[in-house]
Amino acid sequence: MLVIDEEPDTARLVAEALGEAYETTSSAGGGEALERYAAAPFDLTLMEVRLKDLGGVETLERLRRLDPSALVVMLSSYDHVGTAVQCMRLGAHDYLTKPLAPQELRVNVELALRRRRLSGEVDRLRRDAEKARGMDRLVGESPAMRALKELIARIAAHDISVLVTGESGTGKELVAESLHLLSHRRGAPYVSVDCAALPENLIESELFGHEKGAFTDAKDRKVGRFELANGGVLFLDEIGNLPLGVQVKLLRVLQERRVRRLGASSDSPIDVRLVTATNVDLAAAMRQGRFREDLYFRLNEFHVQVPPLRERSGDIPLLAGYFLHGYNRAFGRQVTGFNAEAAALLEAYAWPGNVRELQNAVKRAVILSGEEIAPEHLPRELKPGPGDSRTLKEVAEAAVSSAEAEMIRMALEKSHWNKQKAAQMLEIDYKTLFNKLKAYNIA
Ligand SMILES: Nc1ncnc2c1ncn2[C@@H]1O[C@H](COP(=O)(O)OP(=O)(O)OP(=O)(O)O)[C@@H](O)[C@H]1O
Ligand SMILES: [Mg+2]
Repeated sequence: MLVIDEEPDTARLVAEALGEAYETTSSAGGGEALERYAAAPFDLTLMEVRLKDLGGVETLERLRRLDPSALVVMLSSYDHVGTAVQCMRLGAHDYLTKPLAPQELRVNVELALRRRRLSGEVDRLRRDAEKARGMDRLVGESPAMRALKELIARIAAHDISVLVTGESGTGKELVAESLHLLSHRRGAPYVSVDCAALPENLIESELFGHEKGAFTDAKDRKVGRFELANGGVLFLDEIGNLPLGVQVKLLRVLQERRVRRLGASSDSPIDVRLVTATNVDLAAAMRQGRFREDLYFRLNEFHVQVPPLRERSGDIPLLAGYFLHGYNRAFGRQVTGFNAEAAALLEAYAWPGNVRELQNAVKRAVILSGEEIAPEHLPRELKPGPGDSRTLKEVAEAAVSSAEAEMIRMALEKSHWNKQKAAQMLEIDYKTLFNKLKAYNIA
């Protein structure tokens, strides 16, 4: 506890009133106190309003700037309402008038500390709950998925532009939504635009808006998505489809942090965090001159790559179960699960359409099946067809292989592609690893 008062008696009195449960240190001036606080923060600061060097009000203001969570109780020899109000506005916890009654002082200190502990607790619980809510829609516990979730949690809080890449149906949009839910912008809008779904001549006014009469069809004024997303997150899906002309305008908006509606004579400030996604190779698009490099670097302040489902096949049972549960509820069904053969088919299939394809397969199976989902309820692609006479054993082997390949990839990443180390981690010898790399076509 820090006591700031030129009057040495105050510190002694506080120490006496609080007893041995608290350790108190005293300081005679605001400047010195701030230095001490900066070196090592105190749990509670008791401060006289009248200090010669800085003045209590200014010290309070600086202290709270230094540590917004600082707990401060102001002390004063006279009861001045104006000053008391000012101090409370600046974030003081309480304002006590001298002479200090030991009992009152003690109760006040204990209340202040308890309130702080509680609010810390509440903050923590709230943060945990929000984290869970932001992330629990991203199902998966495979190493790849865990790494992805950890990355999202890390970058969500920072106001950087994120480019999300990954094959179709891998969950890029879910990643964008999680970034919004986990950021301080969660209370502000999340606006999503699919750049591929809009004809070229409409994208511009969709993004930036237009004034009435800006062009022939502009019968009314339109507020653009940028403005709608102000304060929050704008998700631009399929960014690779953005025409070059619009790319130039987008870049300008990002640089100047201002938008101008088509046909408007002035622009307005904008504060959005941009998340973009693409499943095309932007590097190739840049080489072919279809995507601007300067825009690419603006959008790609951070890159999140969502792995295809076949590289996290360990998640297939979990995802299938999750969708089964959801569709049971949606369709009022009580399908209990997948039989062994159906489960093996799900795991062995390569899922070129990724999670979306799996989701659709489960949806269809829930509608078609009886109590339990069997191979005949699954799409034909999953099943060994006439030309593909795979037995259950082969299907099971394929599932094992894909899980094995995933583990190997993880070990290689962890060991920074040191194969010797990776082999040790996997508890296999180097030669076995070498053969498996060849067999699974891992570069
Ligand atoms: N990890 C996951 N957990 C639960 N659901 C998921 C997960 N990943 C994807 N999905 C679901 O799969 C579907 C496809 O995901 P999403 O739309 O995010 O994919 P996408 O990468 O944006 O695909 P596209 O490139 O085709 O737009 C959605 O219904 C989404 O809810
Ligand atoms: Mg998408």
